[in-house]
Amino acid sequence: MPSLVVIGSQWGDEGKGKIVDFLADEAHVVVRFQGGPNAGHSVKIGEKLFALHHLPSGILRPSKISVIGNGVVIDPGVLLKEIDDLKSRNVSVRNLRISDRAHVIMPYHRLLDGAEERLRRGAKVGTTGRGIGPSYADKAARLGIRMGDLIDESALAEKVDFLIPLKQRILNAYGDPSRLDKDAIAREYSGYGNRLSEFVTDTGVLVRNALSKGKRVLFEGAQGSMLDIDHGTYPYVTSSTTVAGNAASGSGVSPLLLDEVYGVVKAYTTRVGEGPFVTELRDDIGRNIAEKGGEFGTTTGRPRRCGWLDLVVTRYANSLNGFTGIAMTKIDVLGGLDELKVCTHYLLNGKKIRTIPADLRALANYEPSYRKMRGWDELEPKRFERVLSKGFSALPEEMKQYVRFVEKEMKLPVVVLGLGRRRNEILDLRKRRWAHC
Ligand code: IMP
Ligand code: MG
Repeated sequence: MPSLVVIGSQWGDEGKGKIVDFLADEAHVVVRFQGGPNAGHSVKIGEKLFALHHLPSGILRPSKISVIGNGVVIDPGVLLKEIDDLKSRNVSVRNLRISDRAHVIMPYHRLLDGAEERLRRGAKVGTTGRGIGPSYADKAARLGIRMGDLIDESALAEKVDFLIPLKQRILNAYGDPSRLDKDAIAREYSGYGNRLSEFVTDTGVLVRNALSKGKRVLFEGAQGSMLDIDHGTYPYVTSSTTVAGNAASGSGVSPLLLDEVYGVVKAYTTRVGEGPFVTELRDDIGRNIAEKGGEFGTTTGRPRRCGWLDLVVTRYANSLNGFTGIAMTKIDVLGGLDELKVCTHYLLNGKKIRTIPADLRALANYEPSYRKMRGWDELEPKRFERVLSKGFSALPEEMKQYVRFVEKEMKLPVVVLGLGRRRNEILDLRKRRWAHC
């Protein structure tokens, strides 16, 4: 370390929460720097399952400082529920810090998210409906309310007074029947501000100080590179910058202070919501992967679309993020298949394509070109225990080949390998010699 960024290399849901939870053990500070309650990280500790939306996954290690940075959009009601839930399960949130510059998701943002989706008719994005896009839009339009305003009753009242009639007119124009009650909203949000004020501070100062003192800071990305507002499959993307560069901007530190970037690569591909997906499996194999991998949205419960690993996507993510290592997740889910496929490039009329185009109509026409790989048997409990104690060498030969193939194609070492849902079901491969450098 001293500083390490963890980024999803696909369309989110790569299992970043578990990887961050694992790496957070070595960190002093864990920072979320973008996204909002659209994120869903699930981490299993013993038999307890934690589903986090707002809070950094570092919160499950209560001695660490957990930061919600300036680049995040916050729904205070959702955040407070999460805080209350953790407290009721005896997880302390004492070390939580929230940026006073982070923007607030207001009730009209959620309503506008829904209304805009309905108005798109055939071209729905398939958002999580959490008000993410409208909130980031207001931030860019300089119509946002920030956490610092929320804890200042008169600043909040002034903003709400101006914004509610404006948003009501937009909702009316969109044909949404909702009525916004200015006073009720001001009261509700000022109440949230009161409860959250103990956590709100200038987190930029905090993170910069931590780094200057040589403390280890872990930056936790949400969503994935293909959902990036600029580089993803626009418009089927989220409304924030999800790539590593934003770890700096979204938390208020210099990009020169980011030392390492791990790309989280799930051993197969999934996506929720709409948009082209070249390696999608619409057959029983896809359905089995979905079921075995528990591929249902943590936030919306929607089934995720599943497909083979797409190396065009993960290499593209690497080119955007500059990964220094790969954290591969959920390789256990692929156990028990006779044969696996990995997409190495796309084909269009016999021509090889290795890049992601801006034009989604082009992407939708590409055919995947696959490398076939031999599958491996499900790991029996005894074998699994041996793998956890002995490490990489005890893995089935075919699984090692799968890992090595990804390393060779991405020209990067796999530094962490996730083998199951529980906290300890993970191999730390950072010391393993890597053959492809
Ligand atoms: P929004 O972020 O709610 O605006 O949704 C935009 C797109 O990003 C939709 O396709 C969502 O399904 C997707 N999305 C947003 N957050 C996540 C996430 O944490 N994991 C996976 N997909 C996400
Ligand atoms: Mg998720």
